[in-house]
Amino acid sequence: MTTTAPRGTGSVSPGHGNGAPAPRRAAIAARTLRTDRWWVQPAVTVLALVLFVVYSSFRAFQNAHYSAEPYISPFYSPCLTTACEGDTFPELFTGPAWISPAIYILVVPLGFRLTCYYYRKAYYRSFWLSPPACAVAEPHRRYTGETRFPLIGQNVHRYFFYLGLLFNVVLTYDVVLAFRDETGAWGHMGLGTLVLLANAALLWLYSLSCHSCRHVVGGRLNSFSRHPLRYRFWTLVSRLNAHHMRYAWISLFGVAFADFYVLLLATDTIPDLRFF
Ligand code: FES
Repeated sequence: MTTTAPRGTGSVSPGHGNGAPAPRRAAIAARTLRTDRWWVQPAVTVLALVLFVVYSSFRAFQNAHYSAEPYISPFYSPCLTTACEGDTFPELFTGPAWISPAIYILVVPLGFRLTCYYYRKAYYRSFWLSPPACAVAEPHRRYTGETRFPLIGQNVHRYFFYLGLLFNVVLTYDVVLAFRDETGAWGHMGLGTLVLLANAALLWLYSLSCHSCRHVVGGRLNSFSRHPLRYRFWTLVSRLNAHHMRYAWISLFGVAFADFYVLLLATDTIPDLRFF
């Protein structure tokens, strides 16, 4: 799947999008004629993404305080090595103790978000200024889109989507386990249970509103009337898809907050609020 959609180019000019060169920009000396604060959105995007990357990197390499029975941080789940704390996913192999279990699984959520259509638009605009906002000239002279190396690699997004679904299943399983108490007895619910539940729900919303998901359920069809079930799924996913940007941000903060809550419990900074 090759796309130029994340560029957010707006209107389509004759010849543009069919391989012909894009029309030249009007000869305006100013970088933009916009008088509003167009730079606020890209600046906030940079700040939010940098904060998340710094926090998540610190936590992933910390290799500690990610389990507080019956909860596990989503940064460390599925925890695959024998070095894992707590009663979690079946341990699959023994890795060197100095390698954080988060490192083995980081590539999936990272790859999923990095190749996400929305995030592509967000970081192309805010980090590469390509372009920084509508009707603001970009500093680069050439743009080859996502048809060449390295950006053509963005097309692996659909595979990260499939892997991301598996991760969502695991994190949902963690929510089920969070209904046990620290002794393993069922019938427990604490604030941590709700935090993990909210995190899993947000990640499902983010995944199911994905553009690749929409293509999977409704793409490659010539006639929806012959596939009423797929049409129904496509309609539902299309509704979610309209809010994909919102789910992208909320789920990003949700996963960081879930990890932070487990960190606070694991370090005995706060007790878990227990409902029953
Ligand atoms: S387009 Fe954003 S997760 Fe697929």
